[in-house]
Amino acid sequence: MFNLNQFEALLATTVIGRTPNNEFWDSIDSTNSRVATLAGEGAEEGTVVFARRQTKGRGRLGRQWLSPPDSGLYMSLLLRPEKSVGEIPIITLAIGVATAKAILAKTGLKVGLKWVNDLVFDRKKIGGILAEMLTPGGERIIVVGLGINISFQQDEIPEELGDKLTWLNQLLCTECNTNALAAEICFQIEDVYNKMQRGQSKEILEDWRAFSVTLGQEIVSTTPARELRGTALDISDNGALIIQTAQGKEELFGGEISIRSKDGSYS
Ligand code: BTN
Repeated sequence: MFNLNQFEALLATTVIGRTPNNEFWDSIDSTNSRVATLAGEGAEEGTVVFARRQTKGRGRLGRQWLSPPDSGLYMSLLLRPEKSVGEIPIITLAIGVATAKAILAKTGLKVGLKWVNDLVFDRKKIGGILAEMLTPGGERIIVVGLGINISFQQDEIPEELGDKLTWLNQLLCTECNTNALAAEICFQIEDVYNKMQRGQSKEILEDWRAFSVTLGQEIVSTTPARELRGTALDISDNGALIIQTAQGKEELFGGEISIRSKDGSYS
């Protein structure tokens, strides 16, 4: 089970998690909302908030993030990037890379990255990222939220999600050490964040390609504005998904995609 002191003792970072403001809540609406509040009160860059459960956990595109007690790692952290950092559009991909690397380092499991923010294993979702940019008082801040499924009971999962999600303890022989995993995630996030600040986003995108389960696949984008069908070719320097459609190449900047499986269904 998560323990803030043990997490802090395992940290190998210089900024992320190295502030006096880290918090661990038994129950909270959303750790992202809490970090946004702390940011407004002047919390330092690197502040991390964890919770055992969230009552209003938020996913991308206005969705709810299922957050029963101790079933997932629910964490959010605060970044205050310099104005000059131009790499912000790739933040979600960068955090995906960091998280996939951390899971690999701490469990030996290679999860896949599904554009734009999903961590998957065997086509099932194991985690997601919600990076929110806010500008309180004109300053740009980023709240990075991460949900990783650790240990679900079957009866905690709504029927419609039944075969769509998986969790680390379902896939591992031993129980996942969430303190060590959270500390490693912070370490890896600091690494990608430093690379972003140094303008080394190409390196991050190369790592993303290595974890991708998206590139080379037949996909359909489910953006409300328009439907795009085709082959996912690559990601652009600013993190857009490049798709070869029947009409030519298109770039997808937001929304969501579904990937075609062998039986022809999309998920
Ligand atoms: C997604 O896949 O849609 C993103 C899910 C992000 C969920 C995490 S859990 C911790 C943090 N707090 C929230 O309310 N959301 C993020």
